[in-house]
Amino acid sequence: MAAVTEQTVLSVRHYTDRLFAFRVTRPASFRFRSGEFVMLGLMINGKPLLRAYSIASPSWDEELEFFSIKVPDGPLTEHLQHIQPGDTILLGTKSVGTLVHDALLPGEHLYLLSTGTGIAPFAAVVRDPETYERFSKVILTHTCREAAELTYGVELVAAAKADPLVGEMASAQLIHYPTTTREQTARMGRITTLIETGELFRDLGVPAFDPARDRVMICGSMEMLADLKALCEAAGLEEGANSRPAHSVVEKAFAG
Ligand code: A2P
Repeated sequence: MAAVTEQTVLSVRHYTDRLFAFRVTRPASFRFRSGEFVMLGLMINGKPLLRAYSIASPSWDEELEFFSIKVPDGPLTEHLQHIQPGDTILLGTKSVGTLVHDALLPGEHLYLLSTGTGIAPFAAVVRDPETYERFSKVILTHTCREAAELTYGVELVAAAKADPLVGEMASAQLIHYPTTTREQTARMGRITTLIETGELFRDLGVPAFDPARDRVMICGSMEMLADLKALCEAAGLEEGANSRPAHSVVEKAFAG
């Protein structure tokens, strides 16, 4: 097993019967870049069970936040959804990931495209001052089935705009674009459709994707990643990596 430490659950909040967020203690030695993920889990029947989880806290946070789905009969989340403040969780000692500034070339507009719990790494990115130093406009899209599933993002954006460190920059530069696909709300549709039809760009009052100006981070299900990757490639946005920065980066949101 990879090196892990025991951390203490500080708070838990349930958003819907499918989604919850929790905060845990951060070991003094644990360093990460905003947008990365780490192995996290529980001892189950005497054995450690760990999964990759995006860290929803920015790198400067004193605690660590996570946003999780509850999968019925999911090997980890069927237990994890019952954690309480004071409980012990297991946390890996090393973080990794591609949804980081190092994997993108400089640009003007940063798109953070998420579905469901795929918003978690972007909760870190929108609270990191580097994001606003690097990009003049930051567009966070979040698509869920129902309105209640958008609450985490709504509160996140409000908190970023009120934050003593990034509040002024976020208020001026951060645009939140929530949509639903099943429950009727003010703005509806899959993000793939909204990009294909150009509705996203018309709503924002900006031109369509252009590799000269736009950078994109994507986090969601495998199908969502594949569909958005194809749309980005068609627009000339090449996929980057830590070792070779380019125009777009993708990462699968945890599910299980
Ligand atoms: P839909 O309701 O049309 O399936 P889930 O809760 O299943 O993880 O989905 C989260 C959101 O992602 C839903 O709004 C869902 O829309 C949307 N979605 C699912 N698959 C794709 C895809 N391939 N491309 C874009 N959005 C998707």
